[in-house]
This record gives sequence, C-alpha cells and structure tokens, in this order.
Amino acid sequence: MTTKTAANRARPADPCCFVIFGSSGDLTHRLLVPALYNLATEGLLPDDFALIGVSRSQSSSEDFRADLAGSLPKFATRRDIDRNALERVLGCVAYVQGDPDDNATYAKIGRELARIEHERATRGNRLFYLATPPAGFAPIGSHLGESGLARPQNGAWRRVVIEKPFGTDLSSARALNQKLLSVLHEDQIFRIDHYLGKETVQNIMVLRFANGLFEPIWNRHHIEHVQITVAESLTVGRRGSYYDATGALRDMVPNHLFQLLSLVAMEPPSRFAADAVRAEKAQVLDAIQLPSADEALRNSVRAQYGDGYTDNRAVEAYRNTPQVDPNSTTETYVALKLTIDNWRWANVPFYLRTGKALRAKQTEVAIKFKQAPIAMFRDTPVDRLAENFLVIGIQPNECIGLEFNAKIPGPSISIGGVGMTFKYEDYFDVAPSTGYETLIYDCMIGDAILYPRADGIEAGWRVVQPFLDAWRDARGDGLATYRAGSEGPKEADALLARDGRRWRPIA
Ligand code: BG6
Repeated sequence: MTTKTAANRARPADPCCFVIFGSSGDLTHRLLVPALYNLATEGLLPDDFALIGVSRSQSSSEDFRADLAGSLPKFATRRDIDRNALERVLGCVAYVQGDPDDNATYAKIGRELARIEHERATRGNRLFYLATPPAGFAPIGSHLGESGLARPQNGAWRRVVIEKPFGTDLSSARALNQKLLSVLHEDQIFRIDHYLGKETVQNIMVLRFANGLFEPIWNRHHIEHVQITVAESLTVGRRGSYYDATGALRDMVPNHLFQLLSLVAMEPPSRFAADAVRAEKAQVLDAIQLPSADEALRNSVRAQYGDGYTDNRAVEAYRNTPQVDPNSTTETYVALKLTIDNWRWANVPFYLRTGKALRAKQTEVAIKFKQAPIAMFRDTPVDRLAENFLVIGIQPNECIGLEFNAKIPGPSISIGGVGMTFKYEDYFDVAPSTGYETLIYDCMIGDAILYPRADGIEAGWRVVQPFLDAWRDARGDGLATYRAGSEGPKEADALLARDGRRWRPIA
C-alpha cells in the first residue's frame, strides 16, 4: 500500500536518570523496562542514561541489574534481544533500598543521584516514576518536593510520573492534586493513563483534525448517538483485593473511557500543544450533565459476573474469586448513559459500557449517524436500512470502518448493508510494543499532550461521583448479574432499548 506521509523523525530523548519507586514490582519488569528497551532499539533512549531502582526489599545494584536482565527476555515484545540496546538500558543501574516514608531514603537517593550524575553526564535531568501502590503517591511526591530532589536546577528538568488510579473519588483526587501541587509545578507532574499510549487512541485526534471530511458532520445535526465499549474477556483473577475495593466504574471510567469520550467529543484545540488540547478535553468533560440521584440510578447499570465460560475456560462467579468478599456488591460491569450539554452534542446520548469476563476483548468507539429521513426505495423502509456507523476499533482489531447501504446487484432495487474498513496492519509495519514507549519518551522530552492535567482528572471524577453516591446509598439494590462469557446483563440492553436502540455486538 502506498501512503502519503508527513512523518516527523524523532530524536533521542534528553540525557536523564530514570528513578523507579516500586522497582521490585510487576509494572517495572513487565512494562517499564521492556518499554525502555524498545526505545533503545529505536535509538530514542539517550546515550547518557541511568536507571535507579528504589524499593523496600533488600537487594544490591548488581542483583537488581541481574534481575532486570533476567526478566527482560520474558517480557520483551520483540523476540531477539539486541545486546547493544540492552546495554544502553542496563549499562548503569543502581539500587536504593529504603522505606519511601522515611526521610533517610531520600538522602540515600540524593547521594546516588549525585554520584551517577557526575559519572554519566545525565545533566541533572531526573524522571521519578511512581510505580507503587496508590497509597504511596502523595507521600513520595511530598518527600520528593520537600527534599529538593525534584526541584529544577540550573536548567535541569525534574519530572514525576504518577500511575493510575489517581484518587478513588472526587475528593481524594482533589486532595492528591493539592498535595502534589503544593510541592511541584503542574508542568512537572505527568499523570499516566496507558490508553493514551495506544496508537489507535492517539489517532482519534488525527482522524478528526487532519481530515476536512469529518468535522462538518461531527455534531448533533448528523450524529444520532455514540457507543463506547471497553469489553474484556479477562476475569478479576488474582487482583481480588484491589478490584473488590474499586469496581469497574472507578477502575475504567473516569480514566480510560473518559479519555476516549473526550477525544471524540472535544472541540478542535487552537493548536496541537499540551495546554490547548488538555483544556478542550477537560472542558467537554465539564459539560457532561451531572445527574440527580434518581437519574444516576435510571441512567446506569451495574452488574457482577456469575459462573460461565470465557476464552474457552470455565470461570467461577466473581464472588468466589480469592480475596473478594463472598457477599460483595462491587460491580464488574457498568453501563452509563451520559449527555453532554453543549451546542455540538445537545440531545446526542453517549452510551458507555465496560466489564470483565465478557464474551471477547473488544474496545471500540462507534458513532451512529442519523438515518435517511424518508423511505425513497419502496421495498426497503427506512427502519430496515443498515445503520450508518463509523467504528473506531481500538483493540484488538485496530481499524476504522464505515458501515453503509448499497444496492444489491440485480434488476430490482434491493438494499443491503456493506462495510469499508481501514486496517492499520495493511498500511503500517509497526513493531509490537508495550504501549508505554510513547508515554515515557514524551515525558523525557517534556511533552505533556498525552498526560491529563489536574483539571481533566477532576472533571472526570466530578461526573462519576453522582453514580458512586447513588450506588452507595442503594447498597446492593439494583446490582444485576450476567453470565461470564456473555455480552453483559440484560439490564444494559434495556438501557438502550428504552431509547429504541441496541448495543453493537461483542464478538
Ligand atoms: C487497567 C485496569 O487500568 O486497564 C484493568 O486496572 C484493565 O482492570 C486494564 O484490565 C485494561 O487495559 P487494556 O489496555 O488491556 O485495555
């Protein structure tokens, strides 16, 4: 296939020290180090680079390096390990053992940084990555600020990456923002949402704003409704204790689903720059109508999976998952109907759904255009025409498809639904990645376009809060169930059927 490209060649990131808190954990081994390695294979990791692990467990720099070198082949997304790239990532590794709540740990980190920065010429640039459980974010952020380790100095940058979840409700998210902003500047804080690392998610902005075709019809005059689906076939598995305290709404909606929603619904930013883009994204979330308690119950469905089969395996009901309360009322599925109160979207419902243990993994945004207004073709009444959907396939089918009507060849006018699909794999040859490469690289070059700002995070929680409150007050009342391996609860079908609509299949 030939494509007309306007590619920008990326340059290696700035020299820096990459300091990981929680370095003995899964995230470091499974995603962060493989992503650094992929950056190295593409020549995007700086020559002057050092990695410092910080964790409570006893270890030495040598053992930490050996541990990472040992786990990389297991988690690398590319088969053959390139020794040069590996050496670039692990050429300078140090380990600091310490309690992240203890001032003495930060003094030790400071000494290591001073030594390495002198040895490796990393120019004093520091990226602190908080890969810890969420309870660590505020205290580590405060220590970094108060100890001076994260204070920009003599032109050297200091940045802090915060993992998800950012808060557990509106007030905790606000408190965390306040705490971090009392010791760091907004432009030093990088709140990560791994959905923004996905090419197909980043492409939503390009689809909308690099093509003149879509903008004139991207509004309530032409769009009838929008469906956002993030279906997973995975069960809660070994994450019972985290998940039971969290639930599908908190785990997925204010972050991943709202990132998709805001990219689809935002106004065109004045320029492709972090502040302009993030302001528009926050604004569209801010325009979502906040429901009363009754409306929240009426416009939401929460459900838990029971026994069933998914991915060809028998699945036990959620309540039998280890570390889950056998009487738990935590939802593993949520569906919401939201309305955006602005001129572009008034009266265009946005239906969102996400859940575990569903029939298949399928993440997509489907935009439904209005039907033809009159039945011009005698034999095919309007309500029997195929529906016009523009479908943005995020994963695992990375594609964009358009569904429309065509004449079935033959002497009479018979009409059938057809589709046109662009598949990424047909045009682009992209090496498999962890999804963290772009995000880490952007942080190293100081580009925050893919990182939500404080206002965006709080706007997301503001919308979710009325649903959390209404469910808390209703306790177990209204909690539906669905069979593992199904497409979700029948109550979610009813949510759309009430408006004369139906969900697209999860297949
Ligand atoms: C995480 C959630 O943020 O996203 C998980 O905590 C979920 O529960 C995961 O499984 C989904 O990510 P992806 O990239 O597989 O869609």
